[in-house]
Amino acid sequence: MKKLFTGVILFALFIGFTGTTLAADGSAIFKAKCLACHGPDGKGTVMAPAFKGNAYINDSTAEEITATIKDGRNGAAKKYKNFALGMPPQHLNDDELSAVVSYLKSLASESAE
Ligand code: HEC
Repeated sequence: MKKLFTGVILFALFIGFTGTTLAADGSAIFKAKCLACHGPDGKGTVMAPAFKGNAYINDSTAEEITATIKDGRNGAAKKYKNFALGMPPQHLNDDELSAVVSYLKSLASESAE
């Protein structure tokens, strides 16, 4: 009985662990939801700015970046004149947001090419 109990606990831990890893893979979330506009490796496209060496990402807090991702950037909030369209609000949960923000921070810390 004790063995079975330990097995169940280990199994639950395992599921919990893999679940979190999957939900919090910033690079995978970026590929799925952001790459189409922001480009592979955050290099930017004609649609949206690059993240490599991005001063806004380097100089902003995680909270500020999270708010930008959740709210998007449209109308008066839009900052870049060279991109015709704004950014639509992104629907991510808190784990996904913090994972993707860490990923953006790591991209931004690399110098732009
Ligand atoms: C439909 C295209 C599109 C998608 C999809 C998109 N973005 Fe954007 N994003 C933009 C555009 C356009 C801007 C620039 C808006 C402006 O002029 O300020 C932007 C700006 C940003 C900024 C601010 C950058 C800066 O230099 O000020 C962040 C942060 C950002 N996006 C994160 C994300 C993340 C994270 C995702 C995926 C979860 C994502 N975006 C998906 C189009 C997109």
